[in-house]
Amino acid sequence: MQMKLKLTVTAAIAAAAGVALAQDMVVKIGHVAPLSGGQAHYGKDNENGVRMAIEDLNAQGLTIGGKKIKFEIAAEDDAADPKQGTAVAQKLCDAKVAGIVGHLNSGTTIPASKIYNECGIPHITGAATNPALTKPGYKTTYRIIANDNALGAGVAFYAADVLKVKKVAVIDDRTGYGQPLAEVFMGRAKEKGIEIVDQQYTTDKATDFMAILTAIKAKKPDAIFFGGMDPQAGAMLRQMEQLGMGNVKYLGGDGICTNELIKIAAGAKTLDGVVCAEGGSSIAKMPGGTAWKAKYDAKYPREFQIYSPYTYDATFVLVDAMKRANSTDPKVYTPKLIETKMKGVTAEIAFEPTGEMKNPTMTLSTYKDGKKIPLN
Ligand code: ALA
Repeated sequence: MQMKLKLTVTAAIAAAAGVALAQDMVVKIGHVAPLSGGQAHYGKDNENGVRMAIEDLNAQGLTIGGKKIKFEIAAEDDAADPKQGTAVAQKLCDAKVAGIVGHLNSGTTIPASKIYNECGIPHITGAATNPALTKPGYKTTYRIIANDNALGAGVAFYAADVLKVKKVAVIDDRTGYGQPLAEVFMGRAKEKGIEIVDQQYTTDKATDFMAILTAIKAKKPDAIFFGGMDPQAGAMLRQMEQLGMGNVKYLGGDGICTNELIKIAAGAKTLDGVVCAEGGSSIAKMPGGTAWKAKYDAKYPREFQIYSPYTYDATFVLVDAMKRANSTDPKVYTPKLIETKMKGVTAEIAFEPTGEMKNPTMTLSTYKDGKKIPLN
């Protein structure tokens, strides 16, 4: 009773003064990625990027629409599973978050994008690379890295022109990422005169690849292209070594281009034969990359994988649009996203009318002495 009276008095004083309490507003920014299962390390890295952005934004003490804003993360786990992805997307719509950074996998991002479009809340992915994401033309969907048309072509050209690959075997994990990426790669590789000597399929849960690798070995390829993620790629590299496939190059997209790949490959020499493409610049070539990475590593030691600079920037892009609209209401600020012109940590960020990144860069990397090394 006494407590209630005290609160009422405090609120009355604040109201009379016309300041403080009522004017502080909590604005939720959703983040979705796999935080459980074999891909949790990517999700943790992505979420760290958003958490770091929110801390930096809160330190600025922003006032939007006359209210002092405090940003908070609403972090969700989609376990890289399309069904769980749509369930958490609906949850974030129902929670009326102001915007979403995510998802991580194309297989979850594409179905979730429809839900965000229906509830009118924008989302920006810093990781999902399937070109099909932006095809429906939703005004709520944005991507701040290059897509797989660029990555598949980049790897195919490097394989043909630099590695002089003549014969390649292709494996994909049948997900909304791996399958279309493998198709892009094969199309561009064939144009460059590379022969596809075998095609095999796996899943994003598989751990034993001995049968498909044995079948591939019989076809004597110079390289394997894998459309999929690092838990499978790392295990394949180990099993390739066991099968004496040490001279076979191993090609892939951003999904295998992580620090975790080094860990999972567990000393297999085949790691040195990896060439992978990611949509953006290397840390050293990003406008704010080196200082940002030092700060990240101090906060989250050994958790860096690949996409966190992009999820950091994606959070700032949402808030930049809110500032320009002077509103945190997605209905009001979403139309401002397309006019973004922001100097991010990763790049100068602007968008095509489709929501794709304008002038995205691409980086090829390899691994040497247990370290990821950019090739360009
Ligand atoms: N680039 C990967 C995907 O689209 C993570 O699923």
